[in-house]
Amino acid sequence: MNKDSISPDNRTESLYRRGRELIPGGTQLLSKRPEMYAPELWPAYYKTAKGITVTDLDDRLYQDFSTMGIGACLLGYGCDAVDEAVIARIRGGSTSTLNAPEEVELAERLVALHPWSQQARFTRAGGEAMSVAVRIARAVTGRSVVAVCGYHGWSDWYLAANLTGGDALGGHLLPGLEPTGVPSELTGTNFTFRYNQPAELEALVALHGGNLAAIVMEPMRHDLPKDGFLEKVRAVADRLGAVLIFDEITNGFRANFGGSHLRLGANPDIAVFAKALGNGYPIGAVIGRAEVMDGAQRAFISSTSWTEGTGPAAAIATLKEMERLQPWSHISAVAGKVMQGWRELAELHELPFTVSGSGNLCALHFGTDTDANATRTLFTQEMLTLGYLAGAGFYPCAAHTLSAVDDYLSAVDKVFGFIAMAVTTGGVRAKLKHREADQGFRRLT
Ligand SMILES: Cc1ncc(COP(=O)(O)O)c(C=O)c1O
Repeated sequence: MNKDSISPDNRTESLYRRGRELIPGGTQLLSKRPEMYAPELWPAYYKTAKGITVTDLDDRLYQDFSTMGIGACLLGYGCDAVDEAVIARIRGGSTSTLNAPEEVELAERLVALHPWSQQARFTRAGGEAMSVAVRIARAVTGRSVVAVCGYHGWSDWYLAANLTGGDALGGHLLPGLEPTGVPSELTGTNFTFRYNQPAELEALVALHGGNLAAIVMEPMRHDLPKDGFLEKVRAVADRLGAVLIFDEITNGFRANFGGSHLRLGANPDIAVFAKALGNGYPIGAVIGRAEVMDGAQRAFISSTSWTEGTGPAAAIATLKEMERLQPWSHISAVAGKVMQGWRELAELHELPFTVSGSGNLCALHFGTDTDANATRTLFTQEMLTLGYLAGAGFYPCAAHTLSAVDDYLSAVDKVFGFIAMAVTTGGVRAKLKHREADQGFRRLT
């Protein structure tokens, strides 16, 4: 059973205090900062992770109804088939002076799944795979400007959109991304347009069309394309000779076997995968049409760690396991049950919460008033005491059973009841044990 509150002298929290001193920003990923969920309560570190069960360094047990490794573990944590393939590769040597043959099999499998593509390059992280894709597009077109929609990682090419002084990227998933450290000389190399707003893309084209190297976007996130949006974007890219890059890092493999674009009616010139492709092991893939991938012959794109063997071994095993399990209808049923449960319980407790989601990425919105963020923090705080990692986002996976969803929704029922009571007796802020969660990027100390 979890303690009601994590005392400051427990191993998990005290290690994070030291971690924050030694590691600027505390972690390597903004979304793994405890401050993003419930400061001083959300466990920073895990000891074990299997299925959907996570233990922290103090052996507290949690069921993960948050993002399952920020979307990386679609088959659940510690998937045996994937782990065994990785262990076999390690026993045969995870790296050497020569290349890992798994790269060729992985390339074969990815291009077979996406018949519009012929070639693949590999990285380990998603953001660096996006940098590779943009480098290829600039190399093959000989142009500089990128039109971008959505979030695509931490690199200079992307953050350059915010060099103009505003928060052009603010409406694209992560607000507050300062371009600090990005050369001001990159100003004017990246402009944003919003999803389902083809007129905004056309306005960028009117200004920069002749110098447009790439259009970069997720084919979908929480919304589906409307009024032929993807076909319109495809037509703009064709008209200008710009490279259309679909970022499938989060959406790829979540709803079907391959990129989400396969069921949305438009093909890109390049698609980029990471996260679910390796079920938590690091692997990024950039696949594309042969003429476009020729940019990777012209440009220098090369890294030692992209050649080790466990990443591609994990990806091949993940693809085989997905093909065997066909987990997508189960994942969509889990998502539907959770979203329906959220809606019904919000109504029951007369809370102004709303729900959005695409069937495999679900989001709970805690109202729009000034208490929304405090309410989100309180939800996480109270769910932790009941043994759940839970927040505004829920990424269902193959290991979430329908009975685990029932148990989770009973816990949500209790916590919504607690929140409703807090609203009428002094407000949600008064029930917070520590400060409210952070909502975007900011420095920690
Ligand atoms: C759509 C999208 N692109 C790129 C990235 C960056 O990937 P990574 O964190 O592996 O660098 C993310 C990460 O959340 C993402 O969701």
